[in-house]
Amino acid sequence: MILVFGSLNIDLVARVPVIPGPGRTVLAPSYETHFGGKGANQAVAAARISGAGKVAMAGRVGREGFGDAAIRNLAESGVATGLIVRADEPTGCAFITVDASGENAITVASGANMAARAADVPDAFVTPDTILVLQMEVPFAEALAMARRTRAASGKVVWNLAPVPEKMSGAMVRDLLQATDYLITNEHEALDAASALGTKPADFETAAAELAKAGQLTCVVTAGAQGAFAFAADGVRVHAPSLKITPVDTTGAGDTFVGAFACILGEKASLKKALEVGCEAAALKCLKLGAQDGMPARGEIRALRA
Ligand code: RIB
Repeated sequence: MILVFGSLNIDLVARVPVIPGPGRTVLAPSYETHFGGKGANQAVAAARISGAGKVAMAGRVGREGFGDAAIRNLAESGVATGLIVRADEPTGCAFITVDASGENAITVASGANMAARAADVPDAFVTPDTILVLQMEVPFAEALAMARRTRAASGKVVWNLAPVPEKMSGAMVRDLLQATDYLITNEHEALDAASALGTKPADFETAAAELAKAGQLTCVVTAGAQGAFAFAADGVRVHAPSLKITPVDTTGAGDTFVGAFACILGEKASLKKALEVGCEAAALKCLKLGAQDGMPARGEIRALRA
């Protein structure tokens, strides 16, 4: 069972010619409402590939219509929603601008996500078969508590270091590394985490190798057009290429990778296969607007190889 402990958001998305800098205003013709939140996105990505009944989501939403809609969307996507708790705070909301090249800028109003608690997850969900998937949009201490419980139960922990917090201490990174089996970052996040440990890596490859060694784990780096790389603690390196696409919207591409990666890992396939399917799923996602809308089902990924 894949257990995602993390954020659920409603995304308000505007297409703009250029993402505005500080003090600037740009006009967009309209906006769209999509389902988002890194946690929910990763749960949907995994469920699209695994099929219904293999993925559960834990987190918190508000008591308003946004919360109802977020839960309904997950259920319709085949994700078990019984561990999602209603909070007094409003459902998380992300304000997203997407430019003509598909790049984005995101501001998240966390709301109910900051009320997420590890105690909301009963022990019955934390077993040797559990693959716990974490990100950085709920309180770090609660995510860490979930990671430690999962490792104590001999389950596996996949931790996506996104978004990197404003203030990320070395102690925080060390705690995270000690409680994780697969750390997933992009190039910048790998460099930020290694820097927090006090090293000054020249590139993301060096940073990822350092993180893998420091945590005795596998550090996976998603590197856009370069594909994805996995660095093991013993120095072994695995690579999967990305698909050549013209992106419409990259929002949620990293989340799609994480969900697909966790799903394939849960099927006991090789690390190389998990990287490949992650890259393929992430590329397909980028062909549609919205974090979850382009996330592929297994058949769409198989069709790529036919
Ligand atoms: O990774 C993309 C996600 O980040 C969006 O769906 C938004 O909700 C933010 O959490």
